[in-house]
Amino acid sequence: MVDSEFVQQDFQRRLRNIPPLGMGLSVDVYSPDLFELVIQLRKQGLEPGYLEVFKATTTSLMSVQKALPDIPLAYHGEGLWITQPDVQESPFFQRDVGEMLAQLNSLQSLWLNHECAMKQMAGYSFGTYIPPLFMPLSAEVVAENIATVQQAIDQQSCRANGAAPLFLLEMPPLTYFSAGTIPIPHFFRLVTALVPCGLVLDIGHLWTVYRYTAACQRVSVEQFVEGFLDEFPLERVVEIHVAGLACHESVGESKEGEGLPEWIDAHAAPIPSILFTMLEQVLAHSHLVNLRAVALEVDTKSIEMIVEEYTEAVRRFSYLVQQTMVRGTVANQPVQLMPHVASVREPVCEADRQQLLNDYARYAKIISGQAAMTGPEWQESAAKAIGVTRYSLSYVPYEILHWGADLEEMFPQTCRVLAERGVCLTEFVAFWFRSPRPLTDSYDFFLLKIERFLEFVAERVPDIRGCAQQECNILCQAYAQANEVVEPVMEMERTR
Ligand SMILES: [Fe+2]
Repeated sequence: MVDSEFVQQDFQRRLRNIPPLGMGLSVDVYSPDLFELVIQLRKQGLEPGYLEVFKATTTSLMSVQKALPDIPLAYHGEGLWITQPDVQESPFFQRDVGEMLAQLNSLQSLWLNHECAMKQMAGYSFGTYIPPLFMPLSAEVVAENIATVQQAIDQQSCRANGAAPLFLLEMPPLTYFSAGTIPIPHFFRLVTALVPCGLVLDIGHLWTVYRYTAACQRVSVEQFVEGFLDEFPLERVVEIHVAGLACHESVGESKEGEGLPEWIDAHAAPIPSILFTMLEQVLAHSHLVNLRAVALEVDTKSIEMIVEEYTEAVRRFSYLVQQTMVRGTVANQPVQLMPHVASVREPVCEADRQQLLNDYARYAKIISGQAAMTGPEWQESAAKAIGVTRYSLSYVPYEILHWGADLEEMFPQTCRVLAERGVCLTEFVAFWFRSPRPLTDSYDFFLLKIERFLEFVAERVPDIRGCAQQECNILCQAYAQANEVVEPVMEMERTR
């Protein structure tokens, strides 16, 4: 049995290594240019308290550390699908963890932030984050996987003072739907009772929970936030994110008088004022006692807009954030770890693991439009059905055909011939989800698109395989070069 008191103490012990950082930015090395951004901020007399940098090549992260020695850096990881019951059996898991450790170390980061979400499950791949099934068993699996990653960090990523970076789990955004049998705050309470991780509360993601769990039909946003925070393990929140929201290209703006807009997480978009109102409410909550940092997430946003929004956020919130962090340090008296047999977690049994794997396989089929919504985690509700339909019919096809890189721009010649032969590109979406596929490499949506498109062309119009292969070679060369020299050759859209 796990002693949750011991877990909480272990968390407090680990947290002591993270100083209050105040307000900062969560950024991407490539988009917009990070060094130019820092120059522009400094011109306005702004020095971010820290920069959280999204996964990139290890070389480029090392160059960030070298170029910005005065700014504390933190790491936003990606690609460790800790929600998945079989992630540790993946042939690439060890390699992915190794790369994460190298990147964590190259930034000298005090934490690894990772979304509680996945882009791959049960052999199916997607382009953007999908939330886990919110169920007790899946919370256990998340905790088990975090414990493994934290153990690797403890062994191989100690800082100069002997402290190990802390795993921070970010509550993911909802994109039109959520699935599960328990409320989202309850899910995170189960996870944090089992492992000493911290949490990242993203205010925009919280808004999507209000919007897509139908809470918005029952209560005001203020009442929702109040109820949510009373249940959520707020004492584990170490970092807060605030980012933009917008309607997706595939859906468009909702018409006036139709209730709340169908916004989803969109880092390039402006931050709506409702998120700052929600942030105020979160910062005022008495359970928020371990906060260390608040970041605007600004990857893919224009430098001009970042400077404007950050200036305003600092003006409005820096005092409040400082106050909240002080509240934490007063509350956190040094903790003495009781002599105790370290929490012994029983591994998830094979039957349960298999059950959850089946649940995730059904999940992938449902949201890609290949299966009907069945099972307790999909219990009929009108809002859920509308959301899943929106996701499978509009969002997913857009993701496969256009997101990250547009197929017609990637393979102009091949697409032209396909059109001449009467093959519609939307058929590629059905091809993509036709059956589960074994993993052939670490997750990379761009390379996956190339690989699958070549297979599609070979099956549908075999005599133009050569043409597709030629275009593929050019793409792969450009992509490899882009990754080497940091400067992206092809503008890759990124979201988290
Ligand atoms: Fe975030």
